[in-house]
Amino acid sequence: MTDVNAKQAEYWANSPGGAKWITLEDRLDAALGPVLELVLERAALQPGERVLDIGCGTGASLIRAAEAVGETGHVLGADISAPFVDRARIRTAGLPQVEAIVADAQTYDFEPGRADAIISRFGVMFFEDSRAAFANMARALRPGGRMVFAAWGRLANNPWFMVPHQAAVARLGRPPSTDRNAPGPLAFHDIDRISSFFAEAGLEVQAEAVSIGLTPMGLASGAAAMCMKVGPAVRVIAHFGGSDEDETAIEAEVLRVFQTYPSQDPFVMPAEINRFHATLPES
Ligand SMILES: C[S@@+](CC[C@H](N)C(=O)[O-])C[C@H]1O[C@@H](n2cnc3c(N)ncnc32)[C@H](O)[C@@H]1O
Repeated sequence: MTDVNAKQAEYWANSPGGAKWITLEDRLDAALGPVLELVLERAALQPGERVLDIGCGTGASLIRAAEAVGETGHVLGADISAPFVDRARIRTAGLPQVEAIVADAQTYDFEPGRADAIISRFGVMFFEDSRAAFANMARALRPGGRMVFAAWGRLANNPWFMVPHQAAVARLGRPPSTDRNAPGPLAFHDIDRISSFFAEAGLEVQAEAVSIGLTPMGLASGAAAMCMKVGPAVRVIAHFGGSDEDETAIEAEVLRVFQTYPSQDPFVMPAEINRFHATLPES
């Protein structure tokens, strides 16, 4: 594997933040279920199709894609994190149509022109060079094939990020500002910018910001507790070396805000997801 995305590989494979995608797998899969539905509904995978799943993580989307294409189809999951691929292989052991590989999707030499569909739930926002990654993935697509990606939308419309970020900054201060388009969960917030990458890779793209509710999160207290395990508050606390007392205060503030939302039992987290649906023209 090349080392262009070495920092991301290190984060997802070896950091405490990455490890939480395994230890919290059930809760994250449940919470993010509606985002997977957004991808699958638009991808409309058919029996016998060949699918690439980019940044497949621990395999929730591989399982659903495998069900859709059946045993005559093929689903290749590519992820930069070896522990995630190990976990995905365990979860899909009974599905012969699934293969999972450790690969950097920006540079991996996918079989050219074979994939009917390339899908991703939240696995495409971390490339050092998204243009190069899109061009590389486009080479794997057959003429007429499609890509369907779901990514987080704007910060202001995603309280999952906004609320813990604001609470942590209010308590500890603002860390040095980073490029809002840099690799990270919100890197695809600008629909026009990302759409231009599809166009440059030769694809015709339709993109939309979809408002959904993330469920089930249990109660607001469960969502606030989760925000202290993954996401922006964790990064601010780590940057300033926040204490247990700081963490308790930040969680309490996050909970206070979440408790003002209309749906409390179960708690529904409003979210804005950018969904990209791109097609490689036949000729
Ligand atoms: C937010 S997680 C989402 C995982 C999974 N798609 C899900 O929805 O549960 C992002 C995933 O992208 C993977 N990833 C990041 N950069 C990558 C790259 N350059 N090539 C392949 N996978 C990558 C990470 O290892 C991680 O599994």
